Amino acid sequence: MYNSKITGLGYYVPENVVTNDDLTQWMDTNDEWIQERTGIKERRWIDPKTDDNTSSMGAKAARIAIERAGLTKDDIDFIVFATLSPDMYFPGGGVRVQDMLDMPTIGALDVRNQCSGFIYSLSVADQFIKTGMYKNILVIGSENHSGGLERSTRGRGVTVIFGDGAGAAVLSRSEENGKGILSSHLHSEGKHAKELALEGPATGRWVPEIIQENDPNDVSYYPHMNGQFVFKHAVVRFSEAIVEGLQTNNLQATDIDMLIPHQANLRISQFVQKKFGLSDSQVHNNIMKYGNTTAASVIIALTEAWELGKIKDNDLVVLAAFGSGFTWGSVIIRW
Ligand code: UT7
Repeated sequence: MYNSKITGLGYYVPENVVTNDDLTQWMDTNDEWIQERTGIKERRWIDPKTDDNTSSMGAKAARIAIERAGLTKDDIDFIVFATLSPDMYFPGGGVRVQDMLDMPTIGALDVRNQCSGFIYSLSVADQFIKTGMYKNILVIGSENHSGGLERSTRGRGVTVIFGDGAGAAVLSRSEENGKGILSSHLHSEGKHAKELALEGPATGRWVPEIIQENDPNDVSYYPHMNGQFVFKHAVVRFSEAIVEGLQTNNLQATDIDMLIPHQANLRISQFVQKKFGLSDSQVHNNIMKYGNTTAASVIIALTEAWELGKIKDNDLVVLAAFGSGFTWGSVIIRW
């Protein structure tokens, strides 16, 4: 059996910065509320005049990751692409990246697990490598939220939180024992599907129905969230997933060198940090700059932490996420 390890990382965020104050042009909100409740100061939202979209941002991040892995696009055997905001209803983003990067006709798989999309995708890629089926897999998380958010006071509970961006990792076969991805842990609880969801357009709420009803109060085509309910579950599930990962590998919280939590809310990250007794330098947060970028959040934060030199050889790196589905999980990595 082989091991898998991350050999390249990259991220891309749109240039357009939207500050908390900028949001007040559309909705009744303020910098103080947003910072106090979420930690967010600004986020990136795609400027529609640019050619950024979910796939193209993913492709930009992927180019960087492939180059840093010392590979070319022809060395990649498979693509796993995580998003909740694909350019098209179908097909997904994976095939678009295959085309944009002019890659050979390799397989491309889309993962729809929202905030834990990158955790799930990394786990899928890890299995393909550990069984020997593939050698180098491109794993991408990318989101274009801004185009679909409700820019009004009605939507403020959700709209102020989300940002656009993409990150990518190259996961490669390794024969080094005890290094790379040690384990991954995936969970779901579908009975809470509607607590954080965008219900239509989809076959349960299809476009003709939405048009026919023409109901001004219909918000089923905007994302909605039962914020406090999600928050309460998030803090519990984040912790459980981390404990499960540590226990599986006979490790303790004191063994963690770097925790990369999904950037849902700075208060959630701080709760988890405190629970595991970690110092500020052992947790990387960037929600202040980018908001919640869902499937891109963990991989952008991981890349940034690595670029800043916060992750060193042999470090124990823990990735954890929770979100819509509900889905949650963790990945334990010996760097
Ligand atoms: O990434 C996937 C997982 N997501 C999460 O884990 C997110 C979990 N939830 C949260 O992070 C928080 O629940 C939020 C940040 C979304 C909201 O914070 P909260 O402390 O739970 O606020 P709330 O929803 O209870 O709203 C409190 C008040 C309400 O006003 P009233 O009813 O008390 O008069 C809201 O209408 O704040 C109001 N409000 C706002 N005010 C200014 C809601 N959104 C805004 C806003 N600006 N943007």
